[in-house]
Formats: sequence, structure tokens, C-alpha cells
Amino acid sequence: MTIRDIVLFPDDILTTKCEPVEEVDDAIRELIDDMVETMYDAPGVGLAAPQVGVPLRITVIDPTAGEEEDDLHVLINPEIVEAEGHLSWEEGCLSIPGVYEKIDRAARVKVRALDRDGEPYELEAEDLMSVCIQHEIDHLDGILFLDRMSRLKRRIAVKKYKKHLAKMKQAEDEEGDEEDSQ
Ligand code: NI
Repeated sequence: MTIRDIVLFPDDILTTKCEPVEEVDDAIRELIDDMVETMYDAPGVGLAAPQVGVPLRITVIDPTAGEEEDDLHVLINPEIVEAEGHLSWEEGCLSIPGVYEKIDRAARVKVRALDRDGEPYELEAEDLMSVCIQHEIDHLDGILFLDRMSRLKRRIAVKKYKKHLAKMKQAEDEEGDEEDSQ
């Protein structure tokens, strides 16, 4: 398993509509394993294939971020077949670090997908898991949580993100300088 680089906003792949997986083979399973490792390393509660540079309809979700066993969900070609209610949950995104914002979503969803072995299954979810599913399926459609904000909130969020990136880069540079001087 390999930890892959996470693609950051505003990379074009994050606004690309992803293609369905035609066959769940070993290459797909390897990608899934890498995505799981990358998500836990981040750490995050969900990751979509375009976030590691692959425009396919695959997402991995673990609302406990690996804290509890058996909470990992692999969704290939996921489709929401039922959605009801409303909730507003503070979301973040591994491709837009430093930004947290409340987004309106359906409170409960039923989703149909293929698992890691290519077997179809259905999943009913509420609260955080429902939010994760909707956030990740958005990624597969090239939609970011920024796109679900008002224009004003989006503008503030992008500013916050750029500031956060600059800080991250500064910290990296300082680390680099220290290594150079040793
Ligand atoms: Ni995200």
C-alpha cells in the first residue's frame, strides 16, 4: 500500500465528472487500498479517487477516521437512490485544508454501490455518514463543498484556504532551511 499525494484545490481534476468503473479488478483494488491508507494518514473521514488524481467513481469513507474497527466503507459507482430531511453539518475537505463550513445536506440517504469485490450492496446512512456520502459523491461529479456555499462564504473560504496554504508552505520552507544548515 502506498500513501498517495492528495490533489489540492484548484486542480482541474477536482472539477471533472468522473467515469464509472467498468470492472473491479486488482488494479482497482490496489487503488482502493492506497486511498484507504492515504485517508487514514491524512487523517480524514472520506476520500474520493479524483483527490488522488484518478477520475473514476470510487470513494472510501470511515466516519471514525480509523479510530474504530469495521467502519470502513468502499463505494464504487455509488448512486443515491433515496434522500430525505435536512441537516447542516460543519464540513472540511482534504483538498481544501484549513476551511470548515456548515453545508446543507439531506439528513438521511440510501445509497447503492459496488463493494471492493465488485458486489452490489445498499447502505442507509444518517448524520455524519450521510454527510460523508453526499460530500464524496459530489467529488465524483466534480462538485466541491465550496460550490455549495453562498458566494460571500465561498469568497471568505477561498481566502482562508490561501492563507492556510501560505502558512503550510512557510512551515515547509523553514523545515527545509533547518535541514540545510545541519
Ligand atoms: Ni472533500
